[in-house]
Amino acid sequence: MAGAHVVVFPCPLQGHVGSMLKLAELLALHHLHVTFINTHSNHNRLTRFGNIQALSASYSTLHFITIADCYREGKHPGSRDATMGDIMLSTTLHAKPLLRNILVSESPAIPKVSCVIQDGIFGSLSNDLASELGIRIPIIHFRTSSACCFWPYFWIPKLFESKELPIRGDGDMDRTISNIPGMENLLRCRDLPSFCRPGAKGNMSIDWVSFQTQQSLAADALILNTFEELDHLVLSQIRLHFPKVYTAGPVHHHLNVRKAETNKGNDSPSFGNSFFETDRSCKAWLDAQPQGSVIYVSFGSSTIVTREELMEFWHGLVNSKKRFLLVMRPDLVVGRENDDQILEKLKEETKERGLILEWTPQEEVLAHKAIGGFLTHSGWNSTLESLVAGVPMICWPYFADQQVNSRFVSEVWKVGLDMKDVCDRDVVEKMVNDLMVHRREEFLKSAQAMAMLAHKSVSPGGSSYSSMEDLIHYIKSASK
Ligand code: UDX
Repeated sequence: MAGAHVVVFPCPLQGHVGSMLKLAELLALHHLHVTFINTHSNHNRLTRFGNIQALSASYSTLHFITIADCYREGKHPGSRDATMGDIMLSTTLHAKPLLRNILVSESPAIPKVSCVIQDGIFGSLSNDLASELGIRIPIIHFRTSSACCFWPYFWIPKLFESKELPIRGDGDMDRTISNIPGMENLLRCRDLPSFCRPGAKGNMSIDWVSFQTQQSLAADALILNTFEELDHLVLSQIRLHFPKVYTAGPVHHHLNVRKAETNKGNDSPSFGNSFFETDRSCKAWLDAQPQGSVIYVSFGSSTIVTREELMEFWHGLVNSKKRFLLVMRPDLVVGRENDDQILEKLKEETKERGLILEWTPQEEVLAHKAIGGFLTHSGWNSTLESLVAGVPMICWPYFADQQVNSRFVSEVWKVGLDMKDVCDRDVVEKMVNDLMVHRREEFLKSAQAMAMLAHKSVSPGGSSYSSMEDLIHYIKSASK
């Protein structure tokens, strides 16, 4: 059977599966055959919480294939039960034989695979397999993290050569980094990807991250979840080394806009991509709050905080006298398993001005008129969702790209404040008031301007719209 058939293969973590599933749906909307590789437990989670059956039913060309898990069934992959090393090693191990089969399989019902879009974090996996099998098809790397972090990742070997790395302890954190082209003197040591820090969180070594990033040089193309207007400076640098870069983002918004143009926007349910059960009760609560009055607080799918850190945030929020909606995932607090009363206590003491839930429909929350600010861990999906909604941010980055993202939020895009490396109730209180009251107009103006640019980019003729068209054309021409 002739036609284009793309395999989409994400790293099995919420932030990765979420955005790559949206990309897969965008490709299916363009009538490409898509095979999405997922782990069993993530597929089960999406079945339970994400309405994936309806998604499959809605697109005849979108198929799911699952691989065995690398962690105990039922445990969340981003939780502390599975290290990043476990996840990468085991996923690669399980995926290799499956990918090998898919790449060579022939069927009358579906075209032969003509392109692989793999998570960039898997490095040379697909390229190695294609060479081993003697197959020449485009291998594209999709980065779920930001372009502004991809670039420092790529530049890490040079930072070691120029002696700007390693970081020499806590006293060295405010030293500025001058040898990243296009970002000269913008990043301090503390703004570099967290893996550059001595004793970094996340069980990943900077050598490994840097090595995997360099492997993208062998990919045929790169897809970055951003838009030209947001990241033009860094994109012009990246293109000097990576000639084919597609910027089809913000992918979630791109998909929403395309679906709104088709009947998929109206008569099909919205397909969630959550690994957690979404609590929709926040909708009625938000409806009852005045416009722009609520600060939304969420730390994504895998950040963990200590009980002390949680209390600093909570007291800061209460002392700010602002209304707040706080997401407390069941595994957010270290050791929470032994202290289940904490949530009930906070809920009880908060109920006049705050709402605490375990997982919200975040895109919808950010789009709600009651939301006036977002206290975030600066995960890339959360950052993009906030930018699209025109909501200013307070950033408390946890790990990986988040340290860079928060620097860009405050110093480049000027849509919020960076609270990096500080967790103190007085600072939380002050920043919430600065964002929501004292500097509200300033931040709102730049956030809304950025939201307009994001929307323009995915509208017909916009930069991301055109980039997506180019990507589809590239994939289709490689399939002839
Ligand atoms: C991680 C990294 O943080 C991120 O930077 C990287 O690029 C991808 O993997 P995560 O930490 O989960 O992801 O954060 P983020 O990228 O922000 O993704 C979280 C997702 O969960 C967002 O799409 C957000 O909308 C969703 N979410 C979060 C909800 O739907 N409800 C919630 O209550 C909280």
